[in-house]
Formats: sequence, structure tokens, C-alpha cells
Amino acid sequence: MRELATSQLPDGNAAAADGGLSSPPQALLERLKDYGQEDAFALWDELSPEHRLLLVKDIESLDLPRIDRIIRCSFKSQGLPVAAIEPVPESSVSTVEERTLEDREKWWKMGLKAISDGKLAVLLLSGGQGTRLGSSDPKGCFNIGLPSGKSLFQLQAERISCVQRLAAQSVNEDSKGSTLIHWYIMTSPFTDVTIRKFFESHKYFGLEADQVTFFQQGTIPCVSKDGRFVMETPYQVAKAPDGNGGVYSALKYSRLLEDMATRGVRYLDCYGVDNALVRVADPTFLGYFIDKGVATAAKVVRKAYPQEKVGVFVRQGKGGPLSVVEYSELDPSLASTINQQTGRLRYCWSNVCLHMFTLDFLNQVANSLEKDSIYHLAEKKIPSVHGQAVGYKLEQFIFDAIPYSPSTALFEVVRDEEFAPVKNANGSNFDTPDSARLLVLRLHTRWVVAAGGFLTHSVPLYATGVEVSPVCSYAGENLEPICRGRTFHAPCEITF
Ligand code: UTP
Repeated sequence: MRELATSQLPDGNAAAADGGLSSPPQALLERLKDYGQEDAFALWDELSPEHRLLLVKDIESLDLPRIDRIIRCSFKSQGLPVAAIEPVPESSVSTVEERTLEDREKWWKMGLKAISDGKLAVLLLSGGQGTRLGSSDPKGCFNIGLPSGKSLFQLQAERISCVQRLAAQSVNEDSKGSTLIHWYIMTSPFTDVTIRKFFESHKYFGLEADQVTFFQQGTIPCVSKDGRFVMETPYQVAKAPDGNGGVYSALKYSRLLEDMATRGVRYLDCYGVDNALVRVADPTFLGYFIDKGVATAAKVVRKAYPQEKVGVFVRQGKGGPLSVVEYSELDPSLASTINQQTGRLRYCWSNVCLHMFTLDFLNQVANSLEKDSIYHLAEKKIPSVHGQAVGYKLEQFIFDAIPYSPSTALFEVVRDEEFAPVKNANGSNFDTPDSARLLVLRLHTRWVVAAGGFLTHSVPLYATGVEVSPVCSYAGENLEPICRGRTFHAPCEITF
């Protein structure tokens, strides 16, 4: 180990004969005491000189006043009565049934125009640990078993390429594709290196390397039920990513909002990595968003049944802003209340992590969230010096920003067309790679049949289908020339 001169030691603490620290740096210990976290040094006497230094560095890397504020505010807000909620007013939702063909065509064209003008960027949330899926690699690297064998990242990259092509063609029929959509990818210390390497080794899936920007979200210490840091090892505080809502402060601290502004970006399409049907950079959604003139919008699907474990959009009191209530926080009697006029659930708009924001809004919201410092306390088993300890991970969610938005609109989409979640390992009851693959195959099979194609199959059709490469189509359009009168043997990928 490199020896430190006394003057180099943290807080000028005296060096032990072996070059290490004899006692915890006094000033650091006092600071920890100020925040009731001095137990972090509890095992000091048992540590080797190297580990003492690591511990000091680990604690010094923490922004203690900020973390303390977050812990206090989050604990305080827990158990507070949930504000009175109302269903989302109908005027805030564009439903599938009320949308006309003219609306759809108008929004599609508006969206493509804005994209060809370089006003849209997309942001992928990819910092999660994917514990339920149980894969050692980040979720985006996962191959859900489609005929093409493509990973989730590749499916998304190719859909971005496809929209670029459509946008370029919308302004110039002969265009070979001069529009670039910038792709911001949020990673975390748990996923960063693997994701970057995966993109490099796959040559950015045909995109330009410099149209992709990786940035890391923050982490935050895990705490015990009484708010003290959990020690993962005797010399390291257990930390976890600060939730997908960590994106707001990560964008701010990495100065990427300025980067977007410099590129002329005005709108940001933000989505989770684990949806095999995600329509990245959807021109229709963007056109709707611009047409509505709102600061935020979210795609929603109808809740399937009252107990479904999804967060739903609500309005906070009469005339209040929209927000999302987690299924665990929604009173079961409210969850099953029916709207007598429509015969549907009153709280029916499920959040599926597909959001559109204006850059102006993103510039403001990080400060508001930071001022309130309220994080969700997720009870989890945390690896600790005492084995698996039950404690809390502190997380913000992407939808925590919605109540701060001056205007929010919801855009209903058909679940089977845009939502194929990959949450749990195969063998679980729902949201698995197998169920997501079937959703993709079924949708693409419907596209092909609607475009005049035929299918043969040697396994039952409910268990197979065809996959349409984004090289051919983004959302089922332009398939007739490829499919009419042709027969495809499922499973297979249809490409040029
Ligand atoms: P989930 O809430 O499903 O979490 O993330 P997860 O980490 O993927 O999976 P589990 O809960 O450990 O099994 C929804 C989306 O938010 C991203 C994920 O990568 C996914 O795209 N996310 C989640 C982040 O970007 N950062 C986080 O800290 C948490």
C-alpha cells in the first residue's frame, strides 16, 4: 500500500507506525456524530490499515448533509395521511376510442417533422439491478428468445434507426436518412461498464457512436429501520441506485440538459429498458404532446383488474395536479370503484413508464425534487456485515416529477401493442421473457396478416409467430410490399 505522509492523511490524523490510521479522523467522526451515523466506524479496531483508508474514503465520498436531509424527510413523510385523491379528469386523457384517423395522421406527421428538425431526444432508464429477472448482465443485454435473437437494447436501437429514416423521408422522399435522434442512456455503477462494453462490441447496433451518451445515476446509502447506514462490509457503506427518478438530479449534475439545449432538443422521450414492445421516439405520441402544448405526458394502459399490481394516475384533490399512486398505497375499496357512466374502474389509467417531457420542465423539476428531498423507502434485504439485513433502499421514481408539472396529459395506448414487460425470470407467472416474446410475435403476426401475408407453423400458433424487423416497419406500416401474397413459416424474422 502507498504510504501517506501525515499531512496527506484525512483530517491530518496521526499515522500509525505501519503508515495507516491509528484512529478514525476526528473531524469526520464528529460530522458522522452530527448525523447520528457514527456507527459506520464501529468496527474500526478490527480493520487493517488498507481497509481503514477505504472506509475513510467511502465516508468522505458521501454528501452527508444531503443524505441526512433525504433520510429525515423520507422517514417523516412515511405514514403521513395520503392526500385526498380524485380520478383523472377525462379532459386530461386521449383515449384510443375517441382518437380519429385524422388525429393519428396529424400527430404522426407533426412528430416526424419535429424529429427531422432535431427537437426530440430519447432517454433510456437503465440503471436498475434487475434482481427479479436474475440475469447477471443488465436487463437491456437480455435476449428474450425472439427468432432474431436480438437483445432489448438492439430492438430499441433499431426502432430509433427506423424512426430516423421515416423522419428523414417525411421531409425528403429520396432521403437516405440524415436525421439523428440523440440517445441518452442512464446507467448506474452496477450496470455502467457492462452496458458501455455491450454497445461497443455491437457497434452501437448501427447507430453513430457519437449519437449515444451514457451517464450514471447516483447511489444512496441503504439504511436500517431506524435510519442508520447499513454496512455492506466493515469498511464500506451499503449503497443502491437512487431509483429511476434519480434521472432528474443525474441530468442536472452531469449538465446534460445544457447538452440537449445545445443540440436544439426541446422534447425528451423517457422510457424503461424492460419493455420489449416499447415504441421508442414514437412520432404519434410526440405529435400529440406538441399539439396539446403540455409540459409532461405519459402513455397509459387501462388497468386490467382492480388488484393488478400497477401504479395508477390520480388527481391530487379537486383541481390538484396529476400524480401516480402505487398499487400498495391505493385503498382496495377505491381500487375497485366503478365509474357508473362508463362501467369502468374509476382509477384505471396504469402507468407504464413511458413519458414525454419538455426540456423547460426538466430544467425546473430537479430543484423542486431536491428541495422536498422525499424518497420512497423500499423495504429490501440488504447484504451486510451481519448477513442479509432487512432495511430500506431510498429511491425516487420517474413519476415523482409529475405533480410538479404545470400541465400533464395522458395518452392511452393498447396494452398488446406497446407493453411487453420483462420483469421476472421465466417460470414466474407473469411479465417474463417468454410472455414478452409471445406478445411481440403475436403483434407482429397481426401486422403481417393485415398486410396480406400468410403463416405456416409446426407448433400451435398461440406459441409462435413472426417477428418483423424494424428495418421493415416501426408500427406495422409499409408492410404490404413485403408481405402481400407471401407465406412465412413461423417462427422467423421478416427483414429485407
Ligand atoms: P424496475 O423498477 O423494474 O427495477 O425498473 P429493476 O431494477 O429493473 O428490477 P428489480 O426491481 O431489481 O427486479 C424499471 C425501470 O427503471 C430503471 C430500470 O433499469 C428499468 O428500466 N431503473 C430502476 C433505473 O434506471 N434506476 C434505478 O435505480 C431503478
